[in-house]
Amino acid sequence: MGAKIRLGILGGGGDSLIGVLHRVASSMYDQFQIVGGVFNPIWEENIGFVEKIGLPTNRVYIDFDTLIEEELKLPEEERMQVVSILTPNFLHFPMAKKLLENGFNVICEKPMTTTFEEAKILESTLQKSNAVFAVTYTYTGYPMIRQMREMIANGDIGKVQKIDAQYYQGWINPIIHDKEKRANTWRLDPEKGGISCCIGDIGTHAFDMIEYVTQLRVEKVLADLNYVYSDNKMDVDGTVLLHCTNNVKGLIRTSQIATGEENSFSVNIYGEKAGLKWQQENPNHLYLLEDGQPLRVLKPGHVYNSELSLEGTKLPPGHPEGIFDSMGNIYKGVAKAIRNEPYNHGEFPTMTDGVRGMNFIERAVESHQKGNVWINID
Ligand SMILES: NC(=O)c1ccc[n+]([C@@H]2O[C@H](COP(=O)([O-])OP(=O)(O)OC[C@H]3O[C@@H](n4cnc5c(N)ncnc54)[C@H](O)[C@@H]3O)[C@@H](O)[C@H]2O)c1
Repeated sequence: MGAKIRLGILGGGGDSLIGVLHRVASSMYDQFQIVGGVFNPIWEENIGFVEKIGLPTNRVYIDFDTLIEEELKLPEEERMQVVSILTPNFLHFPMAKKLLENGFNVICEKPMTTTFEEAKILESTLQKSNAVFAVTYTYTGYPMIRQMREMIANGDIGKVQKIDAQYYQGWINPIIHDKEKRANTWRLDPEKGGISCCIGDIGTHAFDMIEYVTQLRVEKVLADLNYVYSDNKMDVDGTVLLHCTNNVKGLIRTSQIATGEENSFSVNIYGEKAGLKWQQENPNHLYLLEDGQPLRVLKPGHVYNSELSLEGTKLPPGHPEGIFDSMGNIYKGVAKAIRNEPYNHGEFPTMTDGVRGMNFIERAVESHQKGNVWINID
């Protein structure tokens, strides 16, 4: 390995939820070095935060346009090689587009953009560049999720015949019933969040996860969404029926008003021979279910796991992997791609996954608005 990859960060300041996850993840395998960024739109908070966490301040910029302008003045061997976008959703597209147009690699939070149209524009922008582009569907980095993907690909559970993903949170419950609070939450503002809250924020994780572990494609959706109040423009709960390739049927159950739930994301895939179940709040256990057999629990770090799974495990069995490790594994895959080293396509989600995620959000909302009808995704 040569020098560390120079990483810039957009968003993720002291007031953010996701910033710390990216900072820790990027440092996990000693591959990246954060050299600067714009962590907050207010200068005092931006620079104050950087001073507080002890990063160098000389490449902290007042805003995104200044970052591009100043970084381009630097010689290539000093310039940021990759920039992570951790801002609210509406900024992902303009930032990612300009970064790609100016030769930067990009790591972008999900949902990738606010519309499918923007996602397609971004895809064609990427095609004109040589850049690496990753979308952080964080949970695909877990070792036991990677194991699930490999087992399904190897035929260990036989032909997939039922898919069930549930993603329940409760954090919007105390907000949705208070008019003032719901007016001040960016995820409930279409200008900042896009056309959907619940499906856009967490339904996309479930959608991507289904396609990641099964390597099937969702072809059609039928959605029933819940907005709770007529003045609320963004869904906070919904159920989506799925038709996938190979005539496989499934569903996504998703809610942000599941009172008291924290981050209850689970994926259950049933095949003709066996079933696999995984829960995000207990991510080191992958349950293998078989007709007439005792339940088996597979765990990370053991030799029975696939190479892809073991690649994402740093310590021997019995040392639990968590959400930081999962994101760290995505950064590790991106580092390989930037360094032109070989990597498995399961190591990080790409532009294709981001575009499909946006297609899913729009089609789910369309299905609901048209009276709960089936809508094709492709
Ligand atoms: N992968 C995951 O599992 C996951 C989890 C949570 C959030 N997210 C995504 O991460 C993104 C951010 O979510 P969050 O919960 O951290 O949001 P947040 O509101 O907690 O934080 C957003 C941050 O962006 C900063 N910011 C806003 N405008 C900016 C600008 N113009 N320039 C620079 N910084 C700016 C804010 O100051 C803040 O620090 C969203 O797109 C969200 O969907 C992903």
